[in-house]
Amino acid sequence: MVTKEDLLYRQVFTLKDGARVLIRPLIKDDKQALIYLFTPIPQEERRFMRHNVSDENTVSGWVENLDYDHIFPLVAVVGDRLVGDATIHFYSGSARHRAEIRIFLAKDFRHRGLGTKLVQAAIDIAKRRSLYLLEVQVVRDVTYLIKAMQKMGFEVVGTLEDYFMLPDGELRDVVIMINRLRLPEGEF
Ligand SMILES: CC(C)(COP(=O)(O)OP(=O)(O)OC[C@H]1O[C@@H](n2cnc3c(N)ncnc32)[C@H](O)[C@@H]1OP(=O)(O)O)[C@@H](O)C(=O)NCCC(=O)NCCS
Repeated sequence: MVTKEDLLYRQVFTLKDGARVLIRPLIKDDKQALIYLFTPIPQEERRFMRHNVSDENTVSGWVENLDYDHIFPLVAVVGDRLVGDATIHFYSGSARHRAEIRIFLAKDFRHRGLGTKLVQAAIDIAKRRSLYLLEVQVVRDVTYLIKAMQKMGFEVVGTLEDYFMLPDGELRDVVIMINRLRLPEGEF
C-alpha cells in the first residue's frame, strides 16, 4: 500500500550544468505538463514505446486514473515544466516482491545525469516497500537504453523473442534487465 511518506517524497538537486530539479510523485494537476512532455516525441522513438503517447487521451488517462498502489509515477520538474517521468509498476501475489520500472526524459534533459537520479528515486521507493527486484524491459534494438540501464545497476538476465510488436506489426525481441535490491532472507 502507498504510504503518506511515499506521497510526500521530494528530492531537490542541481545537475552538473546547474539546472535545479525537483523529483516528486505525479499529481492530477500535472496533466497538461505531462502531455507537453510526451507529445513532441519523434515517430522513430515512439515506435519503441508501449503506448501511443502522441495521443493526448492516452496521457490524460494516466493522470485521471492515478492509482499509486498499482503504478507509482515520479516526475522530474524544472520550473513549471515536467522534464522526466519514471513509473514503478507493482505486481501482486507471487510477484509482490518485484516491480517494473519505465523511464522517459525530455530530449534536452538526457545525458545530464537526470536518468540516474530518477532511477535512484524509484529504487528508494521500491526499497521502502521492501521489494527484492526491479525489472526493466527494453526492446533489443534500443541498445543505448540497455547500456544506460546497465550503468544504473541493471543486468541483462534474458531475452524474450518476438515479444514486442511495432506499430507496423513487425516483431522485436525484448531484453529483461534486473536490479537486485536485497538478497532473499537468510542469504548474506
Ligand atoms: C535512457 C535514459 C533514461 C537515460 O537517462 P540519462 O539522464 O540520459 O542518463 P544519465 O545522464 O543519467 O547517464 C547514466 C549513464 O548511462 C549512460 N548513457 C546515457 N545515455 C546513453 C547513451 N545514449 N548511450 C550509452 N550510454 C548512455 C551514461 O554514459 C551514464 O553513464 P556514466 O555515469 O558512466 O557516464 C534517457 O536518455 C531517456 O529517457 N531516453 C529516452 C528513453 C526512450 O528512448 N524510451 C523509448 C524507448 S524504450
